[in-house]
Amino acid sequence: MRVLGIETSCDETAASVVALDGGAAPEILSNIVLSQIEEHAAFGGVVPEIAARAHVEALDGIVEAALADSAVSLDEIDAIAATAGPGLVGGLIVGLMTAKAIAAAANKPLIAINHLEGHALTARLTDGLDFPYLLLLVSGGHTQIVAVRGVGDYQRWATTIDDALGEAFDKTAKMLGLPYPGGPNVEKTAVSGDAGRFAFPRPMKGSAQPDFSFSGLKTAVRQAASAIAPLSDQDVADICASFQAAVADALGDRVGRGLARFRREFPGQAKPALVVAGGVAANRTIKATLEALCSEAGFAFVAPPQKLCTDNAAMIAWAGIERLRAGIADENAADFVPRSRWPLDSVSAPLVGSGRRGAKA
Ligand code: KG4
Ligand code: ZN
Repeated sequence: MRVLGIETSCDETAASVVALDGGAAPEILSNIVLSQIEEHAAFGGVVPEIAARAHVEALDGIVEAALADSAVSLDEIDAIAATAGPGLVGGLIVGLMTAKAIAAAANKPLIAINHLEGHALTARLTDGLDFPYLLLLVSGGHTQIVAVRGVGDYQRWATTIDDALGEAFDKTAKMLGLPYPGGPNVEKTAVSGDAGRFAFPRPMKGSAQPDFSFSGLKTAVRQAASAIAPLSDQDVADICASFQAAVADALGDRVGRGLARFRREFPGQAKPALVVAGGVAANRTIKATLEALCSEAGFAFVAPPQKLCTDNAAMIAWAGIERLRAGIADENAADFVPRSRWPLDSVSAPLVGSGRRGAKA
């Protein structure tokens, strides 16, 4: 089985070919990702209109490159899988329409993929993980704990009631005058900072509600920064380190709850797994916190390679293969309309006011 994947839900234009032959391990034959970071940096965040135009310009070439790199011709492709939501609608339209056109011209089936499902199933592509497992998705647009029970069978156990974690990093960086994207710069700056200097709040810590919240922390950072302005380099480093410590602590508390619930709901597993996905999973302080938490709780900690944790099309192609293999590919995908909001779990409706509107996942 060979599937061409296309991803355009935010600021990466990506295409990939993934193959699965019999019982062998799946193979990523090509994985092309064009990041638009430079186009958006001047604005301190992703500008939807610029993103959509950049996808239009780049996508054809990226698809061609992915096919050329894989040495598989369009004829030999079994299906086209494209991200159909959630995300910025301009980019989704570009990706899905391109996929529909290729599928129609080459007479191949089209599979409309939920971007979050791509993240959720990546650990099966990279690590061959069996169901069920627990997923922590921490990116610029999403902060969720999801029980992954099977292909198309997801239960969201927690989400953010305000900002996504990556968004909190990006906004904190912006407040402190650090360049976009904020997360990696906050982490770098924090290295020379004193994490004990500011006692920032640990939002939701100890709460019976399972969800996340980061906007209060962001406000606390703003107040601390304006109280001591103008900021020296050391002040900025101390704020970054203290912010990161607060985030890791709050996240650890929330994920700990998720692990305990997983134990209760899936008691048969001797060593269950926690999988991380999303750009924030690159943060070493956060990773170390999660690793320690897992080892204490007897969980395996699975962090797919960073390139496959952040937005890419291999995860979309793989989700397509999983759906084909499970016999649950949508036969009417040619009529699918892109959905800027599309929860993975239809039972858990979005929390009011949650997340960044139409953001990437
Ligand atoms: O998964 P991703 O590349 O794109 C999506 O949002 O889907 O995640 C990007 C987010 C940004 O908010 C970025 O600031 C954050 O991940 N990020 C980090 C780090 N690297 C990227 N946050 C904290 N520490 C990092 N090292
Ligand atoms: Zn994503």
